[in-house]
Amino acid sequence: MINQQLITKIKSAKRVAVLTGAGISAESGIPTFRGAGGYWRNYRAEDLATPEAFARDPKLIWEWYAMRMQVCLDAKPNPGHEVVAKMESYFPEFLLVTQNVDNLHPRAGNTKLVEIHGNIFTARCTSCQKKFKMESIPKQIPVQCNFCNSLARPHIVWFGESYDLKLLQIARNFLLESDLLFIIGTSGQVGVPVQLASEAISHGSYAIEINPENSTISNLVNMHFANSSGEIL
Ligand code: OAD
Repeated sequence: MINQQLITKIKSAKRVAVLTGAGISAESGIPTFRGAGGYWRNYRAEDLATPEAFARDPKLIWEWYAMRMQVCLDAKPNPGHEVVAKMESYFPEFLLVTQNVDNLHPRAGNTKLVEIHGNIFTARCTSCQKKFKMESIPKQIPVQCNFCNSLARPHIVWFGESYDLKLLQIARNFLLESDLLFIIGTSGQVGVPVQLASEAISHGSYAIEINPENSTISNLVNMHFANSSGEIL
């Protein structure tokens, strides 16, 4: 139940951060990574989202991403995304750090966001490294670079790959100085986002988790709403 202390915290917050994971898009019909539906043609997501899998069979990986792009295009932002978008104008300082690549946060209207795992509608050339947007499902698979025709790959941070350090720095700088942190719909199985959240909490950010299940961060947060994000937000 929402109590007076929490309302006061939210009303007086000046610098607010939100960290989201796949759970916030579950109510839009996008399967989470580790929940039921995280399989495709008997492959686990964890076995496809790797540089080794792409090197072995780029066509297979692009087919998987084309299927996922279609799921994202068919989905709409849900009330959870909409509230997170409105938060931008409620608070004097705001940053959304998302692990999601589904593009639903930008579609809901968030502009102050860092997509630390990339975006499914962006491709990157394996040769010239240039990035380009894909507005619709690619007609030609595997996708070729718009600039030099070499093989392109999804602009996604895969298992075993390094993060974009500039983006991570932006996220970290904001989170460490935040006074309120919402952690929404993440299982906390990936180290970097967990590290960001736990550092923010140990720097004094008041953490509110929204997740029907416990995550690896639940024991660190100040408050846990064990329900769906659309409803609670
Ligand atoms: P997971 O699939 O690991 O976790 C999804 C979380 O959402 C779980 O803790 C669920 O309990 C919760 N959840 C489910 N329905 C929900 C709802 N309606 N409202 C709120 N929460 C709900 O997904 P992530 O934690 O996002 O990385 O996974 C992190 C990263 O692992 C992903 O970004 C992906 C994957 O490797 C990359 O692709 C780079």
